[in-house]
Amino acid sequence: MSVIVRLDRLLSNMGYGSRREVQQMVRAGQILLDGAPVKAADMKIAAAQTLVERMTVRGQRLDPPPGVVLMLHKPLGVTCSHKDAGPLVYSLLPPRWRSREPAISTVGRLDKDTSGLLLLTDDGDLLHRIISPRRHVPKRYLATLARPLDGSEVARFASGTLMLEGDDKPVAPAVLEPLTPTTAFLTVTEGRYHQVRRMFAAVGNHVEALHRDRVGGLALPDDLAPGRYGLLGEAEVAAIFAVPAPAESN
Ligand code: URA
Repeated sequence: MSVIVRLDRLLSNMGYGSRREVQQMVRAGQILLDGAPVKAADMKIAAAQTLVERMTVRGQRLDPPPGVVLMLHKPLGVTCSHKDAGPLVYSLLPPRWRSREPAISTVGRLDKDTSGLLLLTDDGDLLHRIISPRRHVPKRYLATLARPLDGSEVARFASGTLMLEGDDKPVAPAVLEPLTPTTAFLTVTEGRYHQVRRMFAAVGNHVEALHRDRVGGLALPDDLAPGRYGLLGEAEVAAIFAVPAPAESN
């Protein structure tokens, strides 16, 4: 079902200014559709997605209309918040994208000192589907540890009985794949606060560095540098959900 919206409302919600400012741009012939100036600011738009290829605003291709899904390579040192002090992930997006309605928000959070794959979207339903504990979307982290693994962690993380300090429920079974004595992939299906760091703390270790390289079936591409982002298409969004949940422990 496509929603019909007025052009001035659509562009205003996409951060191009107030509706009055958009109306002024229309009058000034600054908005082109298929190469010709748009005549009426209140023209009805039935399928905003199709406009990207057809519309320019002040000579520039239209920003992605609502329904945006982004994959960002989150660098270390930026915070997943709209309002905390210090550099925020949103400062890595074009300024106009930060004044959109609905807002583009991170899908869950990564700690300031965690790098890697971070999804952002303005689609609230999609956001909730990805983070919903019922969906079991696995998230894979590469952890670098202060102390060598002792061999017991794979079973303890898989057990479904590991308690984290301050929590009243054990963490769901998680898959640990040791790579070297002090590095391992850990795949979790929940999104608890500082979960990976707290899981290693619960087995007497300490995470020195943390990087997320997968969310569901979507992997961070090698050529996406820290701080860079890309728009996801339908197939990539579908890939997020296209993975079996990790095996439950017996
Ligand atoms: N677990 C953590 O401890 N930190 C993150 O940023 C993500 C998962």
